[in-house]
Amino acid sequence: MCGIVGAVANRDIVPILVDGLRRLEYRGYDSSGVAVIEASQAINRVRAVGKVAELESALRKGSAPTGGTGIAHTRWATHGRPSESNAHPHMCRQRVAVVCNGIIENHDQLRSEQISAGYEFSSETDTEVIVTEIHRHLEQGLELRPAVQRTVEALEGAFAIGVIATDQPDRLVGARRGSPLVIGLKDGEAFLASDMAALIAVTQRFIILEDGDIAEISCGNVSVYDDGRPVQRPIHISPLSADAVELGNYRHYMLKEIYEQGRAVADTLEGRLTTNRLLEAAFGPDSGPIFDATKFVQIIACGTSYYAGLVARIWFEAHGIPCDVEIASEFRYRAHVVPDDTLLVAISQSGETADTLAAVQEAKRLGYRYCAAICNVPESALVRGADLVLMTHAGPEIGVASTKAFTTQLTALLLLMIALGRRYGMSADTEAKIVAELRSLPVKIEQALRLDTEIAQIAEQFADKQHALFLGRGAHFPIALEGALKLKEISYIHAEAYPAGELKHGPLALVDANMPVVAVAPNNQLLEKLKSNIHEVRARGGKLIVFTEAAAGIDADSDLQVLPVAPVDDSISPIIYSIPLQLLAYHVAVIKGTDIDKPRNLAKSVTVE
Ligand code: F6R
Repeated sequence: MCGIVGAVANRDIVPILVDGLRRLEYRGYDSSGVAVIEASQAINRVRAVGKVAELESALRKGSAPTGGTGIAHTRWATHGRPSESNAHPHMCRQRVAVVCNGIIENHDQLRSEQISAGYEFSSETDTEVIVTEIHRHLEQGLELRPAVQRTVEALEGAFAIGVIATDQPDRLVGARRGSPLVIGLKDGEAFLASDMAALIAVTQRFIILEDGDIAEISCGNVSVYDDGRPVQRPIHISPLSADAVELGNYRHYMLKEIYEQGRAVADTLEGRLTTNRLLEAAFGPDSGPIFDATKFVQIIACGTSYYAGLVARIWFEAHGIPCDVEIASEFRYRAHVVPDDTLLVAISQSGETADTLAAVQEAKRLGYRYCAAICNVPESALVRGADLVLMTHAGPEIGVASTKAFTTQLTALLLLMIALGRRYGMSADTEAKIVAELRSLPVKIEQALRLDTEIAQIAEQFADKQHALFLGRGAHFPIALEGALKLKEISYIHAEAYPAGELKHGPLALVDANMPVVAVAPNNQLLEKLKSNIHEVRARGGKLIVFTEAAAGIDADSDLQVLPVAPVDDSISPIIYSIPLQLLAYHVAVIKGTDIDKPRNLAKSVTVE
């Protein structure tokens, strides 16, 4: 999704802007651009379609911009196709330049008014109405910040913007409503970005703008305004280090993040368990009474995070905790009967997913009293708006395909299951057993990662396939869903997952020797049922790849390959079985030569509806 970087300093800030864009590349984008106010006080803008590398080569050609005040952007097309003229920054009459993340819903109406006022447009974007509106206000004699304020008041939608103007060449103005924006602080310099990761090479000191804030930034001077009145916002020190987002010796971020899962899960458990108990304070000081009052859990999330929710429902209900799970973009647009004393649980890696945030708002409007967030980004809108927070300490996830975020979400959901389960009669013995299994996770994850080489060989069989089917049962059906999602998003092979018992109700018609069927077959109480489903596939000439334990007694033959997973307790087995499926998708994508960390058409953080 789009990314914003801005800077004001007494030095050439173009390298900082470009480095910031590079650090935002993981979010997904299709074009980029930079605009800088040069010593001549003119704005010099360069834009390019494609990767930031294309922008860098455009910057090397012609009169490369240099200057101390500038903005830059990576664009993920919403209004208008990816093209140089649609790329940001957008300018109005060489006087103002704007970058924007988000969507302006009333752009048609504003554009008509602006055309009547004599303005012309050079792009198909909604952003161009912002820059034009600011220009109109500058023409009326307003300074930059009030002109931005007036403009923002006229906009409908969710957005974050960065603005520069030749009227005040030493100034950068940022505004946010519904889309994240932070200010980076450094002695004598200041920066703006939609994500701290963009600025981590220049500073670790940040102000996180609140919704409705407008910031006026000059060299080392930052003023924040809410509704035109100056406000103080606290300074946060980011725990991110520049190397946390470096690739190191890995070929792709996705592989690095798959391999980081043992550590990420250990960090997510850190400080939250005694030898045999959950420390409930992990959920914050207000958690006790909220958990006491909870009679129902409603989970909302999107994509991979939704699949984590599906696993959680099965875990929760096994301990008597009533639970429902819904995709956030569906939840927000239908009528609900709100069960009494429901705890809303929003799961999101980024904490900025527009549909999830909107679903939380809608839930609050409907009367859901408390919202718990399971999230990986402490400064995110989701975390800041939640009543209870359980951070997953996965560290920055750069690969677009979620991996360590998923396994740490599952880990956090097990902690939530214990906290609520205690209120539903979970015994101290059961809790101690689950805690012991949680503690064993890092080791078991390392064991699962040892399947890497074998999985890389099996991946060869997928390279020429158009479709694949994933099967699972119980808590491993969502794992099959997640395996299929991983495969389709990074290898572009169409993959579907079915609860194995559903095969005979339709999908069996698809099975032939050209359709690899991946079965997730842990040694649990559903194993015998799953074995029958495996037979159904074999009887139709299907080719099976089965992830299972030796003790399950599924034997390999010419139509069935077994990938041996080390024995694992049912309580944590969905976490362990998701790892070989991540590796499978990764290796298939390597063979197919796709852009693994930035798959086509996708964005890391989906901040638009
Ligand atoms: C898939 C993936 C997406 C995200 C989804 C929600 O690999 O990453 O499906 O899970 O866009 O994102 P978050 O968790 O940030 O709300």
